[in-house]
This record gives sequence, structure tokens and C-alpha cells, in this order.
Amino acid sequence: MIVKNPNEIKSSEITDEKTYLNRRNFIRAGLLAGTTLATAGVYRFINPPPPKEVVTAEIQNIIQPPDFRAEEKLNSFEEITNYNNFYEFSTSKTAVARRAENFVTRPWAIEVGGLVQKPKTFAIEDLLKFEQEERIYRFRCVEGWSMVIPWVGFPLKKILDAVEPLGAAKYVAFETLYDSAQMQSSFSAGIDLPYLEGLRLDEAAHPLTILATGLYGKLMPNQNGAPVRLVVPWKYGFKSIKSIVKISLTEKEPPTTWNIAAPSEYGFYSNVNPNVRHPRWSQATENHIGEYTRRPTLPFNGYAEQVESLYSDMNLKKYF
Ligand code: MTE
Repeated sequence: MIVKNPNEIKSSEITDEKTYLNRRNFIRAGLLAGTTLATAGVYRFINPPPPKEVVTAEIQNIIQPPDFRAEEKLNSFEEITNYNNFYEFSTSKTAVARRAENFVTRPWAIEVGGLVQKPKTFAIEDLLKFEQEERIYRFRCVEGWSMVIPWVGFPLKKILDAVEPLGAAKYVAFETLYDSAQMQSSFSAGIDLPYLEGLRLDEAAHPLTILATGLYGKLMPNQNGAPVRLVVPWKYGFKSIKSIVKISLTEKEPPTTWNIAAPSEYGFYSNVNPNVRHPRWSQATENHIGEYTRRPTLPFNGYAEQVESLYSDMNLKKYF
């Protein structure tokens, strides 16, 4: 298994990002040279038993858009875990980590049902048994900031295949836990709770869409959506719903939290699109956390090659 409970890790044990990155580049170079076996031996020698960290060349090809390969620097563990949106705990990005510190994420299960042949409840232990892969994704929040995050998880499609969607199923609805004993009220959060999200079935089954169970090779920190959250890298961050307890296949487009809160500002699709303004601000550039100058935002967050065919017959200004 690739992941470790972050609470069990001493800070001295956390691989610093430079070592982590070097390790990854080292392996990547090895894969390119085609000497995987020898590399694995040397790797084990230099880095005695680490969690299984890196993935096959095949996965790299799926996940790394050619323009964003090795030169994309990862954001640090500190950055990723201290600047969060998780309204159930706080609307202040810098307060979420502390407020979510004691969030209880065991026992945990996701109930998968709706228009499926075989409804099934997956305990978190079952989900962690799926082969875990590392996915380095650019992450673009609708508020204009972005990061590069090394997630750990598996394609959502594995779950969808296991429950066998019926022909009538066209969408997938997701729901976060809402526990008023551990979370603030809907009134304080300023949005309806439980938090809801949705995807079209083909988006949900796309190989880039993952259920993430960790990041930086460790179990998911509470503030990032422990124990399991969605990551859809070509859409604005709010589609990547955290701490999921329910997934349902539906015939109709499901309601989503931000669309309910402000329908003129947040649509169902929410694909990253520098050409479609948020009504109150431009989406043409982004503040990449850790950099001083703003970067231009790319269509579909840089994943156009992989996903634009999903929308070939759609007017993306209308379906924003
Ligand atoms: N999921 C839940 N349940 N509650 C939330 O408030 N915020 C969303 C998304 N998922 C949110 C959520 C938003 S707006 C963003 S930008 C991302 O989570 C932030 O993910 P991160 O904190 O891991 O960077």
C-alpha cells in the first residue's frame, strides 16, 4: 500500500519536496531509458523501502499533458495543506487545517447506488485495496489560484464498472458527509449542506478523473478531503468534492452546491476556460501559489488534448 496515516508520521519523517521530486525524476528518467529492472534495484538501494510511490510509463502518458512534464514544480506539502477550501469547517482558507484537525474519518464508507445493476457500499479499507497510483495534476481554483499536486488515488471508473451502470444512467451525483457535531452550520458556511457535486457519466469515467485517497504518498490530510475525495483536473476546483459518502447514478443532471448558491456564477460544467469570465472577475490568468507573476490560464487547465472531445458539440459559453 502506498499511503500512510499523516497523523502517524513525525514531521522529521516527511520526505522534503526536493528529495521527493528528485526521486520521481530519477524513476522517470529510468523509465525513459527502458532499464526499469536495474533502476528498481538501484532505487531500492538508494531509498530503502519507501511506500510504493511511482507508477508505470503507461500512466505517465495518460496523466502528464506533454507541455507539463518534468518542469512543473510540485507545490509543497505545506502549501497544499494550509490553503484550503472546505466550507464545512471554515470559509477561511488558512483556518481549515486547524478546524479539521480532529475530523473523524474512521469508520468510513461510500454508498454507491441509483441507476446501477449492483449497488454496493465500499468501506474505506476496500477503496485503499484498489491499486493506488500517483497522479501529478495541475489544480485550478475558480477564485484564481492554482497549484500542482501529487495526488494518490485510482480512476473513479473502477467503482463505476463495479456497480454496472444501467443504460438510463447519464450522470453521477456525489455527496459529502455532513455531521453537525463536527462541522459548522449551513448558515455559517453560507452554502447548503451537505455539499453536492455532479459529473456527466462520460466525464466521470474519463481516465483523468480519480478518487484520491492521499497526496505526497500519504493518506489524505483532513483539510484536503479525508479519507477520499474526487479530483477532476480540467474543471475548477469546486467540482473536486471532498470527504465523499455517497455516489448515485442518475438520469437527470444532479443539483450541485455552487450552482444552487449562485446559478449565474457557477454552472454545472465548470470547465476551466480562460475565455469565459466569471461574472465578477476574469478567468484569463491565475496566481500559481509560490510564484510572483500571474500565469495565463489554459483551456481545460492544460488538459484540452485529453478532454476537449467530450464537448465537441457543445457551446461552452452557454454550458459554463
Ligand atoms: N468539498 C467540500 N465538501 N466542501 C468544500 O467547501 N471546496 C471546493 C473543493 N471541494 C469544497 C469541496 C473548492 S471551492 C476547492 S477550490 C477545492 O475543494 C479545494 O481543494 P483543496 O483544499 O484540497 O485545495
